[in-house]
Amino acid sequence: MSQYDLSRPVLEQVREAADIVAVVGEHLTLRKTGRNYVGLCPFHGEKTGSFNVSREKGTYYCFGCKRGGDVIDFVMEMERVTFAEAVERLADRFGVRLPPASPEARRRRDEQEQLADVMEAAQAVFARQLSQDRPRAFLERRGVPLDVAAEFGLGFARNEWRALYDELRKKFSERALVGAGLVVEGEGGKVWDRFRDRITIPIRSARGRIIAYGGRALGDENPKYLNSPETSLFSKGHVLFALDRAMRAFPKANRAVVVEGYFDCIALHRVGLTETVATLGTALSEHHAAELARRVPHVVVCFDGDAAGRQAAVAALRTLLAAALEVSVLVLPDGQDPDDVARREGAEGFGRRVATALPADAFLLRSMGESLLERRQNLQSMMEIARACSDPVRRIRIQETLAFGAGIPLEELRSLEIFRVMAAQAATEQVPENAELALLRSFLHDLEPAASAEHLRGFPIDGICHPGVRRVFEVLQRRLANGGGIEIVGVLSEIEDPADRRLLAGLELEAPQTPHERIPSLVDLVRRRADRLRSSEIIVRIRAAELAGDRDALARLQAEQSELIKRPKRGA
Ligand code: UTP
Ligand code: MN
Repeated sequence: MSQYDLSRPVLEQVREAADIVAVVGEHLTLRKTGRNYVGLCPFHGEKTGSFNVSREKGTYYCFGCKRGGDVIDFVMEMERVTFAEAVERLADRFGVRLPPASPEARRRRDEQEQLADVMEAAQAVFARQLSQDRPRAFLERRGVPLDVAAEFGLGFARNEWRALYDELRKKFSERALVGAGLVVEGEGGKVWDRFRDRITIPIRSARGRIIAYGGRALGDENPKYLNSPETSLFSKGHVLFALDRAMRAFPKANRAVVVEGYFDCIALHRVGLTETVATLGTALSEHHAAELARRVPHVVVCFDGDAAGRQAAVAALRTLLAAALEVSVLVLPDGQDPDDVARREGAEGFGRRVATALPADAFLLRSMGESLLERRQNLQSMMEIARACSDPVRRIRIQETLAFGAGIPLEELRSLEIFRVMAAQAATEQVPENAELALLRSFLHDLEPAASAEHLRGFPIDGICHPGVRRVFEVLQRRLANGGGIEIVGVLSEIEDPADRRLLAGLELEAPQTPHERIPSLVDLVRRRADRLRSSEIIVRIRAAELAGDRDALARLQAEQSELIKRPKRGA
């Protein structure tokens, strides 16, 4: 619903004012032939121009794909906006003042127009000040060229308490400046500039109007970023930074890339991913997802390569899947953000990475855990993410992949009962098994130290299920490798966990004793379990590599798999 009156005479006025040749000309090159203009159709791939535009009639038509209409249709189709938005954009661009639909809407429009005026006036001041030495040095350090800074409207707020205030008070009331969030009012009516000694970054609405600013400190000061306060026009949970620019790239890219930070976004635009928007450090909200879902079928999530970023990516994935979007996730190297990687690798390197972004199911499979046990433990929470997916075909595909990761047929997962059985099963796998304890006892108490050392070298620790027993085995192996002994006191000195210490202390009293000749077959039991876990692990990784299209990993894993199969079965 538009807040403007879009009745027929108003629409006539907009169509009249909008020059269709200029509007279309922003998206493709037009050549004049006779009365019409012709170019390559932006809606379907072609080599000879079938796309015709008539300035007189105000229409376009493509002989190839049969699409056509007036200037409003073109903006709707090209920029993927609603009818009302298309009209509003054209009115903005060609200077038509749309009449508000109601007195309430009129009040809002006046408010918005005044805010827009204040923001634009501030922008002129900030942008001018970017040429000072300190902001210049900052841009240089961040690798942002001046033309890119200008494109995004970066500016600088001087290190003075009332520089902007004094300048803008010539034209605007104090109330307007405070209302726009540019000036802060303290106790006793004292006022000062909100942004001081910061790089200013204008945040624009989808229509391209400045609705807020972000302010980046020049150094490591706290807070690193200061943003405009939330107002009726600006809410972090609703706005996507650079959407106004990215929208122009959507039709061709057919997707959006989402990052967390301002400079991540700017860096990706620089390397040619002009379909990038940023969430400004907040969680990706349903509003963000809805905003994207209206405009593109596919979203690539590219968050920071740290624990917080990975967690945020899982949450974002869920929200985007719920909005029926196709989602992929680009996982970055540890500790790096898109800005770092794009600056280091440039357009080509980053482009290669984007091409390897993981589809939703492959990403979830990877997030599920390294070991089968971990994946079983995480299965339930991952399945809940899959359940949020509103597209049934995609949902089933994700569920199948997750079930596969946990080594359980999907049909079996379908009932909650099975979930409970599984949880119980996962739990029992952690209960100390007699055989494991018996082996440990033999090595520590019953065998000659030399014989124990012989068994312990190359002992298949991966086949031990009990985490405490496994930790003790690791300490034993490490001590042997370092030339140390495996007497109980020495081992105890390296074990911190109280439960592990109790286990060790009680070993001789609690664990069953094993006849020496039985030991090789017990070791073999553990080894077979290790091999089994390893091969189910490899199967899952092969599936993950197939999904990710990673041929190198696939070849490596297949080699490892055939190696495992060939291995002679010892002792059995
Ligand atoms: P990050 O802390 O990841 O910073 O915050 P960044 O984007 O890498 O910043 P640079 O590269 O050091 O300049 C991600 C985003 O979260 C918001 C900002 O939008 C930032 O871009 N944020 C962060 C804030 O709003 N306030 C803060 O204090 C920090
Ligand atoms: Mn950064």
